[in-house]
Amino acid sequence: MSNLSKYHWDTGNHASRYLFSHISAQLPEPDRIALIGASGQGKSTLLRILALLDSPDEGDLIVEGVSFKDINPRQWRMAVTYVAQQAVMLPGSVEDNLRLVSRLHGTPYDSILAAQLIKQLGLDYLDLGKKAADCSGGEKQRISLLRSLLLRPRILLLDEITASLDMNSSQKVEALLLNWHREEGTSFVWVTHDLEQARRISSRTWILSQNSLQDHSSDCLFKAPVAELARKYIQSTEGGGH
Ligand SMILES: Nc1ncnc2c1ncn2[C@@H]1O[C@H](COP(=O)(O)OP(=O)(O)OP(=O)(O)O)[C@@H](O)[C@H]1O
Ligand SMILES: [Mg+2]
Repeated sequence: MSNLSKYHWDTGNHASRYLFSHISAQLPEPDRIALIGASGQGKSTLLRILALLDSPDEGDLIVEGVSFKDINPRQWRMAVTYVAQQAVMLPGSVEDNLRLVSRLHGTPYDSILAAQLIKQLGLDYLDLGKKAADCSGGEKQRISLLRSLLLRPRILLLDEITASLDMNSSQKVEALLLNWHREEGTSFVWVTHDLEQARRISSRTWILSQNSLQDHSSDCLFKAPVAELARKYIQSTEGGGH
């Protein structure tokens, strides 16, 4: 992304008319990015823009030399896939949900891969015929991640995807994604409020703060005590963050 800006829709009450302004970052090769910042800084908005679910007001997005302006958004979203903070289940069973994406995109459903991922995510106890809407929040989050992985995107945009999971399930998700990155060469940008998680999963950390984006090597960044980092970047001046 280069020089990306999004106007704040509530310009009257804010010092800046931008939610974020002129931010740039590159992924020259497959990479693991943690995206951190206080609540309301625009992390979800940025990911939604990267997936073309919202539009930038200024700037450009380029994947493998192709600008978002020159590509069909559906095709873009097959390569750059957003996994939402609030998982949305489509009507029907869990299996319908897993199959629907391949139906929509006209790609074959890889049932062997689906079974492997279900196991790795600790969901093998789940009845695939169960209505997706009746699943728990944590189950829905993992189904929604699985649905996205089955598309084999180039870039995964992960929005607090372990927020409603217990520690054991979170660890499974982290292990699966680190492995997926290694084996498939998929990049991810992972929003998290958990700095320990950010340290574990990333090689670089993007900090969204006061309308701009800073890009740090996670190794250097997390050498500082985490508490100090949190004070500096994560907590808003009103003591926000969660
Ligand atoms: N054009 C815009 N598009 C989206 N959000 C906007 C816009 N202008 C202002 N906002 C506001 O900016 C904030 C951005 O919210 P967003 O969900 O992206 O933050 P976040 O960093 O993901 O927060 P959280 O950590 O709580 O999930 C919200 O308060 C939203 O109402
Ligand atoms: Mg968010």
